[in-house]
Amino acid sequence: MPKINPALGYEAILDRVLLTEEQLQSRISELATQISRDYAGMDLLLICILRGGVVFLSDLMRKLTIPHHIDFMAVSSYGVGARTNSGKPRIVLDLNTDIRGRYVLLVEDIVDSGITLDHVLRLLQTREPASLDVCVLLNKADRRVVHIPTRYVGFSIPNEFVFGYGLDIDELYRNLPFVGVVKQEYQ
Ligand code: PRP
Repeated sequence: MPKINPALGYEAILDRVLLTEEQLQSRISELATQISRDYAGMDLLLICILRGGVVFLSDLMRKLTIPHHIDFMAVSSYGVGARTNSGKPRIVLDLNTDIRGRYVLLVEDIVDSGITLDHVLRLLQTREPASLDVCVLLNKADRRVVHIPTRYVGFSIPNEFVFGYGLDIDELYRNLPFVGVVKQEYQ
């Protein structure tokens, strides 16, 4: 696999756009409407899993019409350059919030093998939240090795290596407003 040259820009590695900015924003608006309805009157806490989830969180929370808190965790499962889950997620940053009795919604960019979310869900469940659910933008079901209960899903996507909109390739291109498929030679 050739090394990505950051000086070249994303066009050099983009095979095709999978989800346009318009598609993403329109679906996120739908999710926000649903979440605002489902959690109305509840003290909602959104937990974003860094780093990939941060772009999704920032768009989703601005479309919510109910008051809510946010907090962050960082979990690392894929080393830089790795294309498969190491199987050993590491909590790099833990919450600042006591979630006991709270209505928690985890916000993630992608569920692939499911190993990361499984690890986080098991850990957070021990802290006894009132509810614990998952909102994931991209669901790559073909790659799943652990079942993950996902209450909100943005899009189901095929088993292709994607980047942009929070997802990196070698830590680059998280800022792109669309989700793209990486050219075969970079996968
Ligand atoms: C990515 C992504 C999810 C996880 C999903 O994180 O953000 O957290 O992989 O894969 P899984 O379902 O196979 O566990 P990554 O470890 O690449 O860190 P990042 O969010 O900082 O990019």
